[in-house]
Amino acid sequence: MRKNIVITGFMGTGKSVVAKELARKLKMEFIDMDKIIEERQGASIADIFVGYGEKYFREQEKKLVKELSKEENMVIATGGGALLSSDNTRMLGQTGEIVCLYADSRTIYNRVKRKNNRPLLKGENVLCKINRLLEERKKIYDNIKWKIDTTNLSIQEVTDKIIALLKSEG
Ligand code: S3P
Repeated sequence: MRKNIVITGFMGTGKSVVAKELARKLKMEFIDMDKIIEERQGASIADIFVGYGEKYFREQEKKLVKELSKEENMVIATGGGALLSSDNTRMLGQTGEIVCLYADSRTIYNRVKRKNNRPLLKGENVLCKINRLLEERKKIYDNIKWKIDTTNLSIQEVTDKIIALLKSEG
């Protein structure tokens, strides 16, 4: 069995598609944290935020992190804010290698603008919201050892880079 691989980073950096492809290539199990939370709550992330608030969502996120940290052989795509909790980072880091995906704010904007499933980016001035949140979270994302800028890369290229960097680590 091998350690988990945890793919994190801001919204629109490609976490889910990359994690899915990585899991396929490495024959590991793919886990999308937001999808699991939606299934368990029987509601979309947007509805959970509206109905119960962000704090409740973060509690569900933490519960799930606790569970997943006990597993192995999984590629886990987190939600973009899951590692804002240092407890979550510690737990996921104990049993997994954490990789943070980046992209510039314009690229993120272009990737997310047609979707209205992200409560933190809904409404007007989406690019401003992206920039503000990126700034607020910069320290947290920067602290993660492995980083990949996905701005100009395909899913395959990002996946291959992750495989190469984890190999180099042994
Ligand atoms: C969030 C990111 C979302 C989702 C929720 C909160 C965040 O996931 O977990 O809307 O705080 O960055 P994606 O990064 O998959 O969009």
